Amino acid sequence: MDKFIGIFYATGAGNTKTVAEEIQKELGEDRTDIFDIFHIKKKDYSIFDEYDFLIFGSPTYTGGTMHFRWKSVFPFLKKLDFSERYVALFTLGDRKNYPKKFALALNQMHNELKNCYDIAFLGECTPEDYHYTKSAFLGQKKIHGLAIDQHNEKNLTPQRIQTWVNHLREYIDDW
Ligand SMILES: Cc1cc2nc3c(=O)[nH]c(=O)nc-3n(C[C@H](O)[C@H](O)[C@H](O)COP(=O)(O)O)c2cc1C
Repeated sequence: MDKFIGIFYATGAGNTKTVAEEIQKELGEDRTDIFDIFHIKKKDYSIFDEYDFLIFGSPTYTGGTMHFRWKSVFPFLKKLDFSERYVALFTLGDRKNYPKKFALALNQMHNELKNCYDIAFLGECTPEDYHYTKSAFLGQKKIHGLAIDQHNEKNLTPQRIQTWVNHLREYIDDW
């Protein structure tokens, strides 16, 4: 089987890598490639163009921002043709130490991409899936992807990943 799903992630301390690998396992390693974008050179960014399903992961860092490495990739992504393609986002965060900025890299990534021609996002979640009270998410009807907290809710991670991947599979399995 040709691999038609590409998971691209950036990480600082490795949590996003761990989650990316779990997502890959759930989707099936026979059809899913995985990349740490730190190792993709600018001249090789055409790799993003090779997949029908693109899954982008980043930790959320200071001020609710995505990993800096994504900033050099987005100008390229904005020129991609997204017709007949799907994009799903995930982030890692820490709801106890950053309650007001929990997982907000999702918003930044979504904002960067939302105006791309014909882009379609999969894997949106509802704020009710997250048990906390202060986050900026409370003002949103939906969260733009999967938010994982390995510091405070690690026990929920396997189920969250599975539920999310099952949702993606509704589209992917028919591809
Ligand atoms: C300097 C710093 C700033 C952070 N800022 C946020 C934040 O604003 N919101 C949040 O949800 N998590 C924040 N975190 C928590 C990270 O997102 C969390 O530790 C995550 O698991 C890191 O993923 P990684 O291991 O892939 O780098 C911050 C962590 C660090 C070290």
